[in-house]
Amino acid sequence: MKDETKVVHGHRGPKMERLDVRTVNPAIQRGSTYLYDSVQHMQEVRTTAAELGIQSYGISGGDLTLHWQEAFCALENGFRGVAVNSGLLACTLPLLSLLDTGEHLLMVDSVYEPVRTFCNKFLPRLGISVTYYDPLSTLDELDALTTDKTRVIYLETPGSVTFEMQDIPAIAAWAQDRGLRTIIDNTWATGMYFKPLDHGIDISTHAATKYMCGHSDVIAGAIVCNEATAPLVEATRTQMGLAIPPDEAYQGLRGLRTMAVRLPVHWQNGLKLAHYLSGREEVTNVLHPAMEQDPGHAIWSRDFKGASGLFSVVLRSDISWAQMNAFLDSLKLYGLGYSWGGFESLCVLQDPTPFRTVSQWPRPGIGNGYVLRFHAGLEDADDLIADIEQAFHALHKV
Ligand SMILES: Cc1ncc(COP(=O)(O)O)c(C=O)c1O
Repeated sequence: MKDETKVVHGHRGPKMERLDVRTVNPAIQRGSTYLYDSVQHMQEVRTTAAELGIQSYGISGGDLTLHWQEAFCALENGFRGVAVNSGLLACTLPLLSLLDTGEHLLMVDSVYEPVRTFCNKFLPRLGISVTYYDPLSTLDELDALTTDKTRVIYLETPGSVTFEMQDIPAIAAWAQDRGLRTIIDNTWATGMYFKPLDHGIDISTHAATKYMCGHSDVIAGAIVCNEATAPLVEATRTQMGLAIPPDEAYQGLRGLRTMAVRLPVHWQNGLKLAHYLSGREEVTNVLHPAMEQDPGHAIWSRDFKGASGLFSVVLRSDISWAQMNAFLDSLKLYGLGYSWGGFESLCVLQDPTPFRTVSQWPRPGIGNGYVLRFHAGLEDADDLIADIEQAFHALHKV
């Protein structure tokens, strides 16, 4: 079955008992407590629930949560999906699940910054050490950073501010040879455009907040696990008492239904903006792996089926703070905000420098002007370009 069909079908609503008809969508079930018909029924349910990695109590969510988990898991050919309360938790829960005291993590230097903070502040309290690696590291360089305590390597491809592409199949094979587990933040590509588990990755994580929910009105996370890692992630979720409210699970499933038709518009709009911006004299570099001149383009076109609408540009280094402010403040169709993946366009100043510890930023040849990150929404691309054009006029008036 094609992905477009997978995300639309399955998991219909329950029968309405009195009318004997089915609703298209599953019902939102609110409940802390499941009621059983008998002691025998209770015992049977407990056994089945344990096999499914859930609890016989409302904390695992009702059918709706299970349906959403199954749906996003199926899209990436996973073994089990785990829904959580935020994209950040989708990144941190697998780390807590796979690492023990005394063990060591290899973390990509371009990682989403709050994950870095978690690694620097929280993991040391558990006696887990972290070494950052350059997203463009060779396998030999990764070897040099690996110790006998290393258990996990974490990837984010492309990095969501600087857009470096990692060679995921090569790193996954390298990690398997050394008995290391692999986790990737796959939010940018979504399961539509990249399927990490097919390339040997153990766990794929998502800020479902972004494209999966798609309307800037939900915070949620989705974790896709293979068979070996699912029991570990599910156990940690249970032991920590993590639950996702039914409304968020509903929004997650609803968003997934239309993700396949929204993404191509984000992709094409993003590329049109990126091409336009690459022709502007105020821009020294466009960081977008779907652009032919991007250093990560060969990997992107080999492994990914598409691109989302998020990319960055580096402004010319003589553009002043006041000019850059005038540009951002003049944009009318782009919100000034940190998130992405919703229906609307956004543009925000980013400074990767303070968050890099082992990889040089700016990279040689990229230019050292301000970095602006664009999210191309679902608006008309020509309108979006016209808005950027008038904002550049404002920049030149300063
Ligand atoms: C790449 C990436 N991963 C994870 C997250 C975390 O998602 P959430 O905001 O749902 O916690 C974000 C949020 O911006 C992100 O950009």
